[in-house]
Amino acid sequence: MTPPPVLTARDVHKSFRLGSRDIPVLRGIDLELAQGETVALLGASGAGKSTLLHLLGLLDRPTAGEILFDGSRVDDLRGWQRARLRHRQIGFVFQFYHLIPELSAIQNVQLGALMDLGLGAWLGERRAIRERAQALLADVGLADRARHRPNELSGGERQRVAIARALIAEPRVILADEPTGNLDSETAAGVLELLFRINRERSISFFLVTHDAGLAARCDRVVRIRDGRILDGRIPDGRIPDGRIPDDNPAAAAARPADTGS
Ligand SMILES: Nc1ncnc2c1ncn2[C@@H]1O[C@H](COP(=O)(O)OP(=O)(O)O)[C@@H](O)[C@H]1O
Ligand SMILES: [Mg+2]
Repeated sequence: MTPPPVLTARDVHKSFRLGSRDIPVLRGIDLELAQGETVALLGASGAGKSTLLHLLGLLDRPTAGEILFDGSRVDDLRGWQRARLRHRQIGFVFQFYHLIPELSAIQNVQLGALMDLGLGAWLGERRAIRERAQALLADVGLADRARHRPNELSGGERQRVAIARALIAEPRVILADEPTGNLDSETAAGVLELLFRINRERSISFFLVTHDAGLAARCDRVVRIRDGRILDGRIPDGRIPDGRIPDDNPAAAAARPADTGS
């Protein structure tokens, strides 16, 4: 029997309340992410990509519809249960790294295990966690940068630290929101090599929001979001259309004071 998808969105809707109006952003998303699969999500700025990522990552809850993890519904769990599942099973990588500036690279990576283990176990296993963090930094090519703070690292190095942090809890899924969006193309290519190697070696599923056609083309599958729905992922002759269509989500665009990018 084939295992259920690690993540499933079933007829997911999400609206945001703006003053007295409900702004629909997602209007019935159906999506599956299989174990070990890489899926790229494309769509115009404001189309709801980050919103969908937050819902899949159990950071937020849908207005209607269901999120399933390993085939079981999870969006209706209590807050602490969703948080526990998220900390153990889901890693996040963001465009702007979200590292803590006061902490060194290795401390940032170690911190990734804190929410998973809880403070008691984390303190108890300090040395083991430190060794694991050092091994992960070596794996992402930063063995000699462990004591550097984020502002002493390049953009690509910061993103590698963030990837090591995402890996320390040994998640089943990594959700990445424009992970190369802030990097020059050469640096981005290195970070992509790293992500795809992690996918192969650890069989972690990746859901990647991106504007990067090169990244999307290397994924197992491409899905596109438009007007709050998923379009068929297959794009004729392998062409990745430019996602930046300003009126992809007219309701949301009209309600936005100014486009702030992603
Ligand atoms: N917390 C929120 N409150 C109100 N509106 C939001 C919120 N989060 C996102 N939106 C709106 O939802 C739409 C989709 O946003 P987002 O998911 O960030 O788009 P993308 O990541 O595709 O650029 C945008 O119009 C945005 O302004
Ligand atoms: Mg976004």
